[in-house]
Amino acid sequence: MIEIAPSILSADFTRLAEEMRAVEAGGATIIHVDVMDGRFVPNITIGLPVVKSIAGRTKLKIDTHLMIVEPNRYAAQFVEAGADMVSVHVEADYHLQRTLTEIREAGGEAGIAINPATPLGSLEEALPFADFVLLMSVNPGFGGQKFIHTAIDKLRRLRAMIDEKGLKTRIEIDGGIDTGNIAKIAEAGAEIVVAGSAVYGKGNATEAVRELLDAAAVWV
Ligand code: DX5
Ligand code: ZN
Repeated sequence: MIEIAPSILSADFTRLAEEMRAVEAGGATIIHVDVMDGRFVPNITIGLPVVKSIAGRTKLKIDTHLMIVEPNRYAAQFVEAGADMVSVHVEADYHLQRTLTEIREAGGEAGIAINPATPLGSLEEALPFADFVLLMSVNPGFGGQKFIHTAIDKLRRLRAMIDEKGLKTRIEIDGGIDTGNIAKIAEAGAEIVVAGSAVYGKGNATEAVRELLDAAAVWV
């Protein structure tokens, strides 16, 4: 069963509580929060205070995607602020197992995020320390970008790598996903699908989540 994680990056920041209720009504189970520092990615978004404020206002699991340099300095703080899931980029962290362990020790689910051009080999050794992998299907920094088609093959290879090792690591995919490609993504082995503009760019976020779930169900 696919889980939809709408990204608040494309939501109306003046009405976040309402925007989260809308996607929950459509069947979303996770809310994806894109944290950008203007260094790891060419954009600045939100951080700990916003996570703290929304944590008390929703039943959705809070999934913080840290697109920041030196994520080790902040990862556990996001769990303390109320995040249920925290992912750090393999490209940004020299000591990945340490950070993943700190996220788990703080009580969160630990994720490894990986950019489209980064080979899967770079996360292989850290997989047993992770609860999920966040596979990027766009270069992070902005919502509304085009899905990079090679991500499908990478997704299949990641699925095979996890299965061969007998691990329970879940796969989340992020970037450029809509009703046109979600079935293929589900079939290739993703379990959590992030969607920003396909959910909040449509006018009716509740309906948009339902449509994504319906489109994914074709392959389930
Ligand atoms: C990209 C972010 C994504 C983004 C997804 O840097 O990590 O989570 O919000 O937005 P869409 O679905 O519009 O590509
Ligand atoms: Zn993201």
